[in-house]
Amino acid sequence: MGNINIGLTDSQRQGVIDLLNHDVADAYLLLVKTKKYHWDVIGPQFRTLHQLWEEHYQALTESIDAIAERVRTLGGYPVGSMKGFLELASIKEHAGDVPSATGMVSQLVHDHEQIIRNLREHIDQCSEKFHDVGTADFLTGLMEQHEQMAWMLRSFLEGTAVKSSGDQPGMNKQVTVGV
Ligand SMILES: [Fe+2]
Repeated sequence: MGNINIGLTDSQRQGVIDLLNHDVADAYLLLVKTKKYHWDVIGPQFRTLHQLWEEHYQALTESIDAIAERVRTLGGYPVGSMKGFLELASIKEHAGDVPSATGMVSQLVHDHEQIIRNLREHIDQCSEKFHDVGTADFLTGLMEQHEQMAWMLRSFLEGTAVKSSGDQPGMNKQVTVGV
């Protein structure tokens, strides 16, 4: 844990480090899944999804680095093995599956939403249980990145639904421009 005097106890820092290591593992699995779909996707949306997932892959690479370095900042060591990632992650791999483009998007929305729910819980724990507002703030920014990526992916699915079933009530209501 190191000799670190930043106003947090060793057990507070260890609690936060444990949460962050789960977040590293989930982000790493999502990185691998996103890259695989970037390679495998076919269909009319190929170019759009191929490029979007390249961007998401790059963003996830940066955020994984930031989470791991936050673990080091707090005196811990980030998980850094495939075995460790698989043990700690909450999202699931589906090795061998090659879903349709829409299926891939759905799977990634599901995984981003799982991570967003985890991060929301971890933010509460960091601020209320471990009194680490720095990590709570850091994870809040991370959660917002996942919310934005989930929105971009969800928009593909919602576009499909609007085309097949017409106007949508309430929160799903969309205005089609220039078509
Ligand atoms: Fe590529």
